[in-house]
Amino acid sequence: MENNPLHTRRNFINTSLKAGVALSVGSAALGSFLSSCNNNTAGNNAAILTTGFTQTPLPYAYNALEKAIDSATMEIHYTKHAAAYAKALGEAVASEGVDAKTSLETVLSKVSKYSTKMRNNAGGHYNHELFWKSLSPTGSGKAGGKLLTAIEQQFNSFDAFKNQLTDAGKNRFGSGWAWLYVDGSKELKIGSTPNQDNPLMDASEIKGVPLLGLDVWEHAYYLRYQNKRPDYIDAWWSVVNWDYVAERYQAVLG
Ligand SMILES: [Fe+2]
Repeated sequence: MENNPLHTRRNFINTSLKAGVALSVGSAALGSFLSSCNNNTAGNNAAILTTGFTQTPLPYAYNALEKAIDSATMEIHYTKHAAAYAKALGEAVASEGVDAKTSLETVLSKVSKYSTKMRNNAGGHYNHELFWKSLSPTGSGKAGGKLLTAIEQQFNSFDAFKNQLTDAGKNRFGSGWAWLYVDGSKELKIGSTPNQDNPLMDASEIKGVPLLGLDVWEHAYYLRYQNKRPDYIDAWWSVVNWDYVAERYQAVLG
């Protein structure tokens, strides 16, 4: 568990708070985020980074993203696949004695202590809650403001960033996700995870706070795109909700 830099940072911050030691500017945002997760008292911009155990309403109609994702796929994805993760997560939470006041992020940060059922479904629920909110029928097509500046600094250009994340999704063997996330040094990173893993998990090879997740499970695209995952990814970019991604980035920065 302590391999997770976020969790290690949280322990440091908790210890520092108890000792009355002032936090450094660099650790304040992630510390605030994780402390909010622990206390279930997230407020202001930290609230955007916390997730509950049940499905929230889809923020648009099933056919709203038709230019990229067809209505039938959206409805089945939300009401069948994602709903099943949420239901199974509830069962795992009940049977494994998880405190109902804790946040899903906290569970994910120590998910290796729990069952495979918890790992798969805590990840599945978290990933899909993030996925719905990360999309919008009125996506601008490009990040702006501080997020765009940071992307350009880290990846040289917005197009280079898109290509790198696209490749992460295309090259994920089998089912999984591609991510834009912020690591423990607050740097933007791109990576991918198998199955329903994500960077918040102590068991994940990549670690940080996800800003944007690309679902490359076949259930996300097969009805319209069949085996053409790259075509789905190309279309997916047109419905990314960059305002939401930017809000998450700002919340992580604090
Ligand atoms: Fe999915």
